[in-house]
Amino acid sequence: MILVSTFVILYKSRFMRLTHLHLFDYLYRAYNAWPRIYDGITQLFSIGQWEKWQNRVFDDLEGKKILEIGVGPGHLLLKMVQKGYRVTGLELRKGMAYEARRKVKKAGLDIDILQQSVYRLPFKSETFDCIVMTFVLAEIVNLDKAIIEMKRVLKKGGKVIVIAGGIPQDRNIIAKLLFKFIGSQTTLRIERDNKGYFERYGFAVTRTDFGPFNVVNKIVSIKK
Ligand SMILES: C[S@@+](CC[C@H](N)C(=O)[O-])C[C@H]1O[C@@H](n2cnc3c(N)ncnc32)[C@H](O)[C@@H]1O
Repeated sequence: MILVSTFVILYKSRFMRLTHLHLFDYLYRAYNAWPRIYDGITQLFSIGQWEKWQNRVFDDLEGKKILEIGVGPGHLLLKMVQKGYRVTGLELRKGMAYEARRKVKKAGLDIDILQQSVYRLPFKSETFDCIVMTFVLAEIVNLDKAIIEMKRVLKKGGKVIVIAGGIPQDRNIIAKLLFKFIGSQTTLRIERDNKGYFERYGFAVTRTDFGPFNVVNKIVSIKK
């Protein structure tokens, strides 16, 4: 009850809304800026489930040629390569790209990790069987532009596999209040209807929700 009251007070507080503190953005920027602390923070936030959530992409991967966008420190990228997929990595932030390349080198592998944004993909049309993005979508401001580029480089019948955090799907009041509070403190796109966007671009889309309060979702979009 005390917890619920605290969230209600914080959310309703004019101070929090008027000053636009965006406290969560500072935390998010900090962990993206220091790749070495990234793993610790993601483990904390996901109660140790981050890797398990990422691994859900393997249920849908098809074909061999994979593009991972927003590789972060590169854990999933390495795992896909070790399972025999031919993966190209893309990462916007220099520090993260550096960390992913370091991991790849340490593992004795040779994988292309380009420092580039999803908005301009340096690949020919219809190159990849699958595109994978885990916990990246909330950072993508212009999702229309990103989808147009992803659709272009994807082969016909290919899939975009997204794992993302979003609105809790349970009717749990604590989850809703917590989400409202986080939503008021961030500019990340956590409330957007990502599935609807992919549908508007002619993909066949399915969505599965999981994790605490069903706050994590997997969106698989097939290019028709
Ligand atoms: C929360 S991290 C997720 C990293 C990793 N996929 C994971 O599951 O741990 C989001 C990553 O997306 C990258 N990113 C954000 N915007 C991007 C863009 N426009 N193009 C490519 N990568 C982007 C960030 O630099 C960051 O490394």
